[in-house]
Amino acid sequence: MSEERPKYGWYVKNLILAFNIIGLFGLIVFILGLNLLGMLGVILIIISIALMGLFLWPGIGLAAMNIIISKDDSEVQGRDILSIIQSPRVLDIGCGTGRTAINIAKSLPKGGQLNGIDIYNVNAISGNSLTTVNRNAELEGVSDKTTFQYGSATEIPFEDNKFDIVNLSSVLHEVHDYEDKKKAMKEIHRVLKPKGYLLIGEWNRYSWQIILYTGILCIVFQRRKYWDELIRKHGFNILKYENFAGYGLFTAQK
Ligand SMILES: C[S@@+](CC[C@H](N)C(=O)[O-])C[C@H]1O[C@@H](n2cnc3c(N)ncnc32)[C@H](O)[C@@H]1O
Repeated sequence: MSEERPKYGWYVKNLILAFNIIGLFGLIVFILGLNLLGMLGVILIIISIALMGLFLWPGIGLAAMNIIISKDDSEVQGRDILSIIQSPRVLDIGCGTGRTAINIAKSLPKGGQLNGIDIYNVNAISGNSLTTVNRNAELEGVSDKTTFQYGSATEIPFEDNKFDIVNLSSVLHEVHDYEDKKKAMKEIHRVLKPKGYLLIGEWNRYSWQIILYTGILCIVFQRRKYWDELIRKHGFNILKYENFAGYGLFTAQK
């Protein structure tokens, strides 16, 4: 019998499917255009190039990105911080299926605990649910030090000054409204202990990697400066910024 393995799902799987279908339609139109003479052929080729650029490029790029991420076993952001805090309490906001949260939980020193919250948007990750993240934690052997529950970044279901570390990996760009982002930052500040650490990972719009993966869709992401300002304006000092293949990691302190 095959052993059950954790299922972390694919980011934006439905979007990838839709983009590839439209993109492949563009490819068919392109072939059709090549076989037609005259103005109609030229028009079809122009339309098909637009369709492939807008849809097939991010469709293939995002699929490739998911495959690369699923094989990535890079370092946990903030491992150095985890090691200097006694029995750290960590909150992972937007934990989803637990890809990052469970990785952090595996690095927790003795007595450490991780709470994860999410609104469980099923379009963000395939199979995104509380059941999935709990099962993944069981399979990865960290269920004794993790607790996952429903909760939003804009209304964090915990008391003031509870956590040593708050982590958000690829989450804040999904909080679309700027007022909601400000609300989330105030909530994070509230639940962090004095001198607590904030870790934010976000894709950088103008990195060549994100342009390669997403094409025109890179506009969904912000520049480093945008996150820099948001973090500083809400009572945090930025201690460190690291760039991992277009993914920006901010380490800040309350
Ligand atoms: C791209 S996924 C990242 C998941 C996870 N952090 C990881 O590293 O795999 C973004 C997650 O943020 C969640 N999310 C979006 N808006 C949120 C909000 N306002 N509060 C909490 N979670 C949110 C989505 O449901 C989704 O699970």
